[in-house]
Amino acid sequence: MTSIELSEIIEDGSDVLIVLDSRKRWLTKAITGKQFHCHKGFFDFDQIMGKPYGISVKTNKSIELTIYKPIPSDFLKQIPHSSQIIYTKDAGLILLNGGIHPGCIVLEAGTGSGALTSILAKYVGSEGHVYTYENREDAYNNAKKNLERLGLESQVTMKFQDASNGFDEQKVDAVVLDLGDPCEIIPHARTALKSGGVITIFMPTYNQIERVYVQLEEYNFGDIQALELILRGIQLKRNAIRPNTRMIGHTGFLIFARKLVGEKDL
Ligand SMILES: C[S@@+](CC[C@H](N)C(=O)[O-])C[C@H]1O[C@@H](n2cnc3c(N)ncnc32)[C@H](O)[C@@H]1O
Repeated sequence: MTSIELSEIIEDGSDVLIVLDSRKRWLTKAITGKQFHCHKGFFDFDQIMGKPYGISVKTNKSIELTIYKPIPSDFLKQIPHSSQIIYTKDAGLILLNGGIHPGCIVLEAGTGSGALTSILAKYVGSEGHVYTYENREDAYNNAKKNLERLGLESQVTMKFQDASNGFDEQKVDAVVLDLGDPCEIIPHARTALKSGGVITIFMPTYNQIERVYVQLEEYNFGDIQALELILRGIQLKRNAIRPNTRMIGHTGFLIFARKLVGEKDL
């Protein structure tokens, strides 16, 4: 039998993903002496304390629930939000194409609900940092709560500031923009970025792509790429494996570009 490490064990205060089926799942904390309740009954968290993630537990109505250790996409799907948050498929590509890596400094605007901020913060880790700008107070306060709930506040500096007035930071490795008018932020992003640094812009409409592309050329960015990710889920059912009937048809477009350095910058 393989030995079980401490990180595999559910403790008082551990985050747990409780799964009934592919549709019904809950993200919560396991608390000693408390119960988990859902429409299929309840169980005592004490029943799972000290046990490894991946176990199953029965409710008082004998319904089996599985307990998983949450992964970043679980947090993303459950984050309380008032504005549209980034989808996992787009967040994944932003990390890889956006020049983001453990230990790097990322500048983000707008924060929104802090969903993308949380993914960036997890990925840059304790050696890196995320600076994020939001100009709506309610969004700023909600994102602050979300980041505290995820225990990521030390890796993020939140600013209740309008990014169109410019950024305080310089020599950042990457800039990520997901806000209404990215064109007016591009000049400030250029000033804040290191030479060769990457800018990523998420935008929902075709109309914005051309304006952003032209602005990026004007402000001397190179290697400009625009793309859209289309994701199709597959139904997993014996003898009936096929694409799901329903899918999310559109989330947004992504533009990636890198800061060029001309003679006048040297
Ligand atoms: C679509 S939401 C961002 C969602 C975010 N990526 C997430 O995953 O939660 C856009 C946010 O940008 C903010 N915003 C718009 N213009 C801004 C600006 N000039 N400076 C700072 N924030 C801005 C809006 O208030 C809004 O909260």
